[in-house]
Formats: sequence, structure tokens, C-alpha cells
Amino acid sequence: MKAIAYSNYGPPEVLGSVDLPRPVPKAGEVLVKIHATSVTAGDYRARSLDMPPGFKLVGRLVFGVFGPRRRVLGTEFSGLVEAVGEGVTRFKPGDRVVAYPGAAMGGYAEYAVIGEDGAIVQAPANLKLDEAVALPFGGSTALHFLRSLAGIKPGDSVLIIGAAGGVGSAAVQVARHFGAHVTGVASTGKLDMVRSLGADAVIDYRREDPAAASDAYDIILDTSGTATYTKYGPALKPGGRLLLVSADLWQLLGTLLARKTGGRKAMGGYAAEPAEDLRFLAALAEKGQFKPHVGGRFPLDQAADAHAFFKDPARMGNVVITVNQD
Ligand SMILES: NC(=O)c1ccc[n+]([C@@H]2O[C@H](COP(=O)([O-])OP(=O)(O)OC[C@H]3O[C@@H](n4cnc5c(N)ncnc54)[C@H](OP(=O)(O)O)[C@@H]3O)[C@@H](O)[C@H]2O)c1
Repeated sequence: MKAIAYSNYGPPEVLGSVDLPRPVPKAGEVLVKIHATSVTAGDYRARSLDMPPGFKLVGRLVFGVFGPRRRVLGTEFSGLVEAVGEGVTRFKPGDRVVAYPGAAMGGYAEYAVIGEDGAIVQAPANLKLDEAVALPFGGSTALHFLRSLAGIKPGDSVLIIGAAGGVGSAAVQVARHFGAHVTGVASTGKLDMVRSLGADAVIDYRREDPAAASDAYDIILDTSGTATYTKYGPALKPGGRLLLVSADLWQLLGTLLARKTGGRKAMGGYAAEPAEDLRFLAALAEKGQFKPHVGGRFPLDQAADAHAFFKDPARMGNVVITVNQD
């Protein structure tokens, strides 16, 4: 089968076409003929090893010390079940599915296998496979931080910094689902897109300082890596939460050590990839409450261009890579 692989960390051009044996599903596994995959921040970091300062070593430990451990990227994919291994009961050939292999990767190929008990669900009927593919990464991250860490509840006032990005565009929709009042922060040309996701208010960070508000938010979620407690603490209501989805080590330490009053907290960490979150997100999509925003599509043999586009300042939402289009 055709796949896109890499052997060394580096620029998008390290990604090249290879022929690999088609995987065979073992007992309990599902073989998926991939329709679409994507460029997530996880794929970008695994390819480039461009990590936030202080996390370079962690990056090598996660992705491979001397070179990439997983040669085929693709943290999420969608497609049709081609075959199932012995004992598989939840899926059958022909099912439309979305899968989140996460750090195990493997989506940049014509086929991939995943355990039926892993993060794989039926694709929402109302989404095309090249939209549904972008449910897992942004959606699971948003759920982890907003629901599991911050305990979001109806009526909360939520500020999302990076609202036009992969994680932020999901976070706006997830926060709205939980009944929050959402303010999205983005650059000038992206405000309409953020409003279209359901944000109640928007802030153009190039013209206005989103940290200028005082005692205004129950939750502030930052995906841009620009937030610190010192800067955003005063914008939190008493008991409020600053969620650092992206932060370098020094910023994280400084923020965690900063003196906090009124029960305010700052929280960071890594989102896991649980199957139940993916089921929750797929159900949300079925109800029309979550639709991944696709800001660009590239065929598999242009995966390097897709990676370059991921860093284009004009990009909004998710970058999808289409594989089998039949
Ligand atoms: N902790 C975890 O478990 C976890 C999970 C997933 C992702 N992440 C991390 O989260 C980060 C975001 O991922 P992503 O996929 O959402 O990336 P992304 O699509 O590139 O989004 C980043 C956003 O940051 C915004 N931004 C950049 N500079 C800014 C500034 N000065 N002020 C305000 N906003 C600014 C950009 O907004 P504009 O485009 O409007 O300029 C962009 O939309 C990455 O660093 C990723 O590694 C962490």
C-alpha cells in the first residue's frame, strides 16, 4: 500500500512516499481503508520536533530519541472498515468509522489497523468522512481541559485564546454545548469564522488586549502559548481556572508558582485519548452541535504541502489529507 513516511525529524520535505505491506487485522482488530487523515499539532511536532522551550528532551522521549519511532504520521483518520479480525463484534466491513490512534499514529497510509476496543467509533451520519476525521484531536483536547479539568457548567463565562485553531475551534463548540457564554480570541481575518462556530463574542488580539478585562471569566483556555497567570489572573473571576493547553516549561513553572488568590487556579498537562471521549464527540456531531472546521484539503501525495500549510498564518481550523476518495 502507498504511505507517507519519514526517517529524520525536519521540515515538511522529510515526508516522502513509500510502499509498505498492507496490515492484516489480528484478533480483536479492525482494518480500515483510510479515506482521510489530518495534520494535527501532534503530527507537526512529531515531524519537526519543534517543541516548546524546555520540552525538547520530552519530545525525543515521546517520538523517538535518535529519530522517529513511528515512521508513518497520522494521529487521527476516518474511512471504511475493510476487514475485521477474529472475535470483532462492534464493527463489520463497510462501516464508516473515525479513529484516534493518537501517539500510535499510522493515518498517512491507505490502510491501518486499530483494536476494536480502542478509540474508534461509527462516523456521524451527518458528516462527510473528510470532516469527521477532524473530530478526535481538537475535540478530545477541548473535552479534557474544559470538562475534566475545569468542570465547565451552564452559564460559565469562557474565554478561548486561539479560537480559530485546531483545538480552539473545537473548544468554542464544546463550551457552547455545555451552555457557556463563549468569547473567542483570534486575529483580524478570522473573527467571522469564530462567530460562525457559535462564539457569543470575539476579540481581535491584534487590536485589543484580551487580558484587559477584570474578574470577567470563569474559565480561560489558551492554545496559543501566550498566557501566563500573571497576565490573565486578574481577568479570572474568583474560583476561575486558567487552562494552559500550550505552554513552555518556564512559563508553566512560573504560572504554577505564581501567588493566586480567591480560589483561582492555573492548570496544564496533557490530554489523553480515551475512546469514551470520541464516542461523546461523535454523538455531539450527530446532534449538530459539533462540526470540525476544515480550512484546507490536500491529497496524500502532497502531505508535505499540507504540513507547510499547517504553519500558514492564514490557515483556519483543521488541515485534512485525503487518501482513498472512492
Ligand atoms: N496539552 C495537550 O494535551 C495538548 C493537546 C493538543 C494540542 N496541544 C498544543 O496546543 C497548541 C495548539 O494546538 P492547535 O492544534 O490548536 O494549533 P493551531 O491550530 O496552530 O492554533 C494555535 C492558535 O494560536 C493563536 N495565536 C498565535 N499567536 C497568538 C497570540 N499572540 N495571541 C492570541 N492567539 C494567538 C493562533 O490564532 P490566529 O491564527 O488567529 O493568529 C492559532 O489559531 C499546540 O501548541 C499543541 O501542541 C496540547
